[in-house]
Amino acid sequence: MKINYKETTSDLISRINIHDKFGNRNIDEWMLETLELNEGMRILDVACGSGKQCSSFYTTLGGKCEITGGDVSEELLDKAKQLRADNNYKIEYKHLNFNEQFGFAENKFDLLSCCFAIYYSEDIPFTIREMHRVLKHGGKLFTTGPMPENKQVFYDIIKEATNKPIPKMPGSSRYASDILKAIENTFSDVEVKIFENPLTFPSAAPFLEYTRASLSEDRKLWGAFFTEKDGFTKIMKSIEEVANKWIQRDGKIVMTKVVGGFIATK
Ligand SMILES: C[S@@+](CC[C@H](N)C(=O)[O-])C[C@H]1O[C@@H](n2cnc3c(N)ncnc32)[C@H](O)[C@@H]1O
Repeated sequence: MKINYKETTSDLISRINIHDKFGNRNIDEWMLETLELNEGMRILDVACGSGKQCSSFYTTLGGKCEITGGDVSEELLDKAKQLRADNNYKIEYKHLNFNEQFGFAENKFDLLSCCFAIYYSEDIPFTIREMHRVLKHGGKLFTTGPMPENKQVFYDIIKEATNKPIPKMPGSSRYASDILKAIENTFSDVEVKIFENPLTFPSAAPFLEYTRASLSEDRKLWGAFFTEKDGFTKIMKSIEEVANKWIQRDGKIVMTKVVGGFIATK
C-alpha cells in the first residue's frame, strides 16, 4: 500500500506541544511505566522523529544504555541531533527507511520501539519481520498508534463543518486490526495496553492549531477534501465556525486521544 505522507517538523512539534499543554496525562510517563527498562539495554527507536522517545529512554536509564534512533526524515533527524547536542545525550541517530531492510545485524536489540508511525509502512508484514529480525530472542517490540475510537470529537467537528465522510485513516482504520494481527503472526506473545488522554481546549484557538497541524500533515490522505486550490483555507474557516459554536455551547472542547500500546515478545 503506497502511503502519501510526509511528516513536517513544525507540524509534529506543534502537536507534541499541544498534547503537553492541554492533555491531562503524559504519554511518555505511561510508556516508561508500561515498559520494563533496564540498565545496559540496547534499544532501537524506529521512526524516532525529533528524538522524543530516545531522549525519554536515555534520561530514564541515566545514560546507562545503548540507544539508536532511525528515521527517514533528515529534517527530523537534525532536530533530534540538536536535542542530543543541547543535553549531551549519547544517542546514535541514523537514516532508516522502514520500507527497506534495516541496516542492522539480526538478534541485536533488547527493545525496539516504534511510536505513531508503523501504519505509514508500505508493507506492514515486511516491516514487522525486519523488527523481529533485529531483536534478540526474548527481546520486546513496543508500538503505539491510534485505536478506532481515537479523537472522535476531532472527526465529529470536521464532519459537521464539511458534510463530507471522513476518509479512512491509515492509522486508526488499521492499527487495532490488520497491524495487530500482523504483529501476532510474527511474534510469540502480544499484550495490548490502552492509554486514554483527554485534551481539554478552553477556546477554539488551540483546537484549530491542532487541526491545522493534523490536516496539513495528512493533507494527501484527505484527498477528497482539498480538490480546489484554496480548499485548505476554506475548510479551516468552516471548522473554525463549528469549533466556536461548540465552545459557546459547552464552554470547552474535550478531545480524547485513545492510544494502543502493543508489547510483543520475540
Ligand atoms: C507522527 S511521527 C512520530 C515520530 C516520533 N516517534 C514521535 O512519536 O514523536 C511519524 C514518524 O514516522 C516517520 N516515518 C514515516 N515514514 C517512514 C519510513 N518509511 N521509514 C522511517 N520513518 C518513517 C516520519 O518521518 C515521522 O518521524
